[in-house]
Parts: sequence; structure tokens; C-alpha cells
Amino acid sequence: MDKILVELGSRSYPIYIGSDLISQSELYLQHIKSKQVVVISNETVAPLYLDTVLSQLETFQVTTVILPDGEQFKTLDYVTRIFDELLANKFSRNATLIALGGGVIGDMGGFAAACYQRGINFIQIPTTLLAQVDSSVGGKTGVNHPLGKNMIGAFYQPQCVIADANVLDTLDDRQLSAGLAEVIKYGLIRDSEFFIWLEENMPALLARDKKALSYAIKKSCLNKAEIVSEDETETGVRATLNLGHTFGHAIETGSGYGVYLHGEAVAIGTCQAVDLSRRKGWLTDTDVERIINLFKRCHLPTTPPNNLNAERFIDLMSVDKKNVDGQIRVILLKKIGEATLPIGVNTEDLKETLDAYGR
Ligand code: NAD
Ligand code: GLY
Repeated sequence: MDKILVELGSRSYPIYIGSDLISQSELYLQHIKSKQVVVISNETVAPLYLDTVLSQLETFQVTTVILPDGEQFKTLDYVTRIFDELLANKFSRNATLIALGGGVIGDMGGFAAACYQRGINFIQIPTTLLAQVDSSVGGKTGVNHPLGKNMIGAFYQPQCVIADANVLDTLDDRQLSAGLAEVIKYGLIRDSEFFIWLEENMPALLARDKKALSYAIKKSCLNKAEIVSEDETETGVRATLNLGHTFGHAIETGSGYGVYLHGEAVAIGTCQAVDLSRRKGWLTDTDVERIINLFKRCHLPTTPPNNLNAERFIDLMSVDKKNVDGQIRVILLKKIGEATLPIGVNTEDLKETLDAYGR
């Protein structure tokens, strides 16, 4: 088992990465601080892994909340169901919430943990590749609003993250590819050696080679842990993790939540950010080709949907947490392995990419 520390002073916590971790009761016991435990999961993940988790918790007073599966249910209404269960069972402030699922369950569970009685203990058990390499680490929690993705939320760090590579066996290929989009992101924004490793090892990752997957999860978590330790609340370098996300969130909101997977929208958005970076003279045509090629080899989409024209894109992109005084700001690439901080873009430059790219 690998153990990576997210260093945040008294709120530091470990990310455990390995195989068969969800059946290791001592991992839970170290981080649960009272008798009361609530496990949040969804209708797809619960039948697969809930029993294994519950059998490690036999000495606790455990309740479960099983939510419907899908990005469209990542709303305040469904978070309220968690509060209903906690209150109905008279859960106290020292209770522990365990989020067992992908990024949707992790974000919702974390947000519920942040809000219930102003904050209870929280453990992340990410079960998708995307959640293991990104969403479970770093404390961003929240829900969507019909007018904007992830617009309601809180920074709230877990007590630990338990990333068990074996649970990825049941993940379908489309979801695996979506997770790889966020893995590629680390190579692009700060780790050119990892980008080259990904180019060389993509066949092994797609074939679910355990050694390759574990290495990619570990490298991603190391990169993310360093960034979060340096800039927990995104006043600087953490924003680089949003490469492709301003475009991507517009695609998710504009297409209707759940039509594109988050990782798919991020892949398209990254290709758009890369196009803009080339127009700025920072990336060469060869860089652009390498990046788009890598997404294509992962079977990820690289062009935006035709029903979102430039005007609609700009409207959607103007609801983004990076924007300042209403100006759209995006992360671009200076080169493979180096991202900019958020850059204000004028509408004309943006329109060039939005009009030309992929059409
Ligand atoms: P998801 O949670 O919807 O999971 C994808 C699908 O896989 C779901 O149908 C789920 O039920 C299923 N699933 C999960 N684990 C499985 C398993 N082991 N076997 C079989 N099926 C399984 O999506 P996701 O891609 O994990 O996460 C996307 C969400 O994460 C988005 O809402 C995005 O905004 C959020 N996100 C948050 C952060 C953050 O920092 N908090 C970062 C990136 C993404
Ligand atoms: N996924 C972006 C972040 O955690 O900041």
C-alpha cells in the first residue's frame, strides 16, 4: 500500500492507495471518532461494495443513504436527504460520514459533512478512476445549480482517502477513459515526464494493467497533494487544475448534466484551451497534435457539440468561479508541463477558438 500525505497542518490527511483496501478494517478504525457512522452511496455502487464496507463497521451504529445515480442528482434537494437521515437518527457532531462512490457521491457527501452541524468527520472512498485521481483529494465539495456547475459548495477536507484500485474492475470503459482525462491533465499542467510516460503507457492503462493504473493513480495524487498543500483554497496555483474546465463546465451545463461525462467535457475543453494556447504562440502545432492524439487514444471526444455556438459558450463560461468582475478567465498552457494562472481572455480571442475549433 502507498500512503501519500496531503499536508495541511493540523488538518493533514493520508491518501491510501493499493489493492483490497476497502476490506481492511484498521484503515477505517484509525479515522472514525465516535460510534455513529453514515455511509453515502448510490444505486450502482452500493450493490457492488456497500456490504464489504459495512462488514468492517460492525461495532458502530451505522446508517446508510443510497442516492439515485447520476450527475443530474447532484443537487441541494438530494443533499437534504442526507440531512434528513442524520437528523432522524439523532446523529451528533462527532459522527463520521463515509462517501462510497464516484465524484458525484464524494462531492455531495463532502458537502453534507461540511454543513451538518457545521462540520462532521468525513472519509472518502472513491470508486471511479476520476475520483481516485482528483475529486476525492483536496476538499472541494458541492452540488450543481441549473445555471452553473458546482456553484454551491465548500472547501472541506476529509480525514483520509481510501483509493482501492480493485474496485476499478467493475468500472465500464467509458468511465475509465473519463478518468484518464484528469490523469492527462497533471502531465499537461506540471509534469512533462508524466505526460511522456502516459504517451508510452496508454495501451497498458486502457488494458487495465494494475501496475500501470496504480502508478498513474499515485503520480496523480502526488501532484494533486502538492498543489493542494500549497494552495488549499485556490488563490493561486490550484486554479491550474482547472485546465479545460471553463470550457468543459460550459459543455456540461449547456448539454444538460449527465449527457457528457465530466472527464469527456474536460477532454474537449482541454483541446479548446490548447487551441487558444497555440493561437497565443505558446504551443506548437506538434504539441497540439500530441495532446489531441493522446485524448483520442483514450477514446475521448476532442471537439465540442455542434449545438453550442460561440455566443452560448461565452454566456455559459461567464458563470465560472475563476472569473473576476465578470471577465472570463481560463487556464492555458505555456508548454506541455507548464500551465498559466487564470488569464483574462477578450471575447474576440475566445470567439476565434470557439468558432474555428472542431468545426
Ligand atoms: P460519477 O460519480 O457519476 O461516477 C461515474 C459512474 O460510475 C456512475 O454511474 C457511478 O455510479 C459509476 N461507478 C462508480 N464507481 C463504480 C465502480 N467501481 N464500478 C462500477 N460503476 C461505478 O462520476 P465521476 O466521473 O466519478 O465524477 C464526476 C464528478 O466529480 C462531477 O460531478 C465533477 O464535477 C466532480 N469532480 C469534482 C472534483 C473535486 O475536486 N471535488 C474534481 C473533479 C471532478
Ligand atoms: N479538481 C480541481 C481542484 O480540486 O481544484
